[in-house]
Amino acid sequence: MKIHTIALGCQMSVADGLEMSRPFIERGAERASAIDEADCVILTTCTVRDHAEHRAISLIGRLRAWKEEDPRRLLVVAGCAAERMGKEVRRRFPHVDLVVGAKSLPRFPALAAEILEGRSRLLESSESSQARTVWGLSETELESRDARLAHGFVTVMRGCNYSCSYCIVPSVRGREIYRDADEILAEVRAKTAAGLKEVTLLGQTVNSYRSQREGREIRFPELLRLVDAVPSLERLRFMSPHPHFVTAEMIRAMAECRSVCEHLHLPVQSGSDRILKLMRRNYTRASYLEKVGTLRRLIPEIEITTDIIVGFPSETDEDFEETLRLIAALEPSSVYTFKYSARPGTLSAAMEDDVPTAVKEDRLARLNELVAQTASRRLSRWIGKPLQILADTATTGRSRQGFKTRWERPVESQVLFSARAASVERQTLIAERIAN
Ligand code: 5AD
Ligand code: SF4
Repeated sequence: MKIHTIALGCQMSVADGLEMSRPFIERGAERASAIDEADCVILTTCTVRDHAEHRAISLIGRLRAWKEEDPRRLLVVAGCAAERMGKEVRRRFPHVDLVVGAKSLPRFPALAAEILEGRSRLLESSESSQARTVWGLSETELESRDARLAHGFVTVMRGCNYSCSYCIVPSVRGREIYRDADEILAEVRAKTAAGLKEVTLLGQTVNSYRSQREGREIRFPELLRLVDAVPSLERLRFMSPHPHFVTAEMIRAMAECRSVCEHLHLPVQSGSDRILKLMRRNYTRASYLEKVGTLRRLIPEIEITTDIIVGFPSETDEDFEETLRLIAALEPSSVYTFKYSARPGTLSAAMEDDVPTAVKEDRLARLNELVAQTASRRLSRWIGKPLQILADTATTGRSRQGFKTRWERPVESQVLFSARAASVERQTLIAERIAN
């Protein structure tokens, strides 16, 4: 069996797709690099904005031809949009074999085992020789295939206890559930022993993590220290922290842990205190900037990236100008920018979506222009400085600060090496390898 995962949305969606493919991979399935080669497609969907959901619907529609080519193929639609509109997906798209909403993910491995039993009989009855090779791979072969991936995700918590007024995530993902620290550590150990160099800890508000270990409460800063103590781990990242839980403790742990990368993606959403309050973000522009100030003081090489929503209900020109001023002060090295999208059932959906589309688009364009300027300024500051790069391919990779990097002389992919930033090309640092 060949399996292909397609993820829409955030890194949690990517991680969920990979996790869902694991029961198949463990039983000998291979990864297909393209849809046409696959017997099974797992699509993890996103519902965070209207647009994300439309993409999911259109993709499901386009997968009908693939499914009809061979009805034994298996189409699994999962993730956040599946949670919100599972019934509709089932009704509109009979070619979908299985709908697995985000909340049902923990039940999926058992389901997968059942599918596989039925599935393997099917393969054996029609193409028995192929069935043997497909299911006959040993565990060691699987591990060596996995080891080619230089970085991976480890989910530490799911769900969200916050209630940001624009956000549909709490309703599709449910309340926070934390994974045991020992389980997290075991996964980090296993993955790094198999060759993984970099791990990203994932959670909707990852730094609100807490759990019990040996009768004591572990909070996020301590989790960082525990994971950092895994000797085979080279680089550690985490996504997405909430500014409210960026404590002095957390910053100290980041500064002191050798593996924690000098990069923090810290979504701010708006520069206007009035809008932040309506968004129910639980921090102010000043408290956000103060935390970033501490981060930069204690971790001088850190780069900050963020998320901004423009056109939240009632956002005025002046509110928007505040966002522009915040970006100018913050100097992020990159920003994900979004037009506000009213999501069903959220608090802000009850407010009038009164910023006209044309105004949202104009604000987005102005914001993107400013972001491009600050980003290239940030990148330029690195020219001449040393970088540590993890190669994804022979000539491309990422620095610890999260910068995309490129170089001339091919290296072995998955390798970590020292380099110097030589120049900037669009949003990429051009690097030269130096002796380790
Ligand atoms: N409209 C626009 N953007 C949104 N985001 C979340 N909900 C919405 C929405 N309703 C953005 C936020 C968040 C990112 C993942 O998506 O910026 O940080
Ligand atoms: Fe999209 Fe949010 Fe779900 Fe990620 S958690 S896939 S951003 S809705």
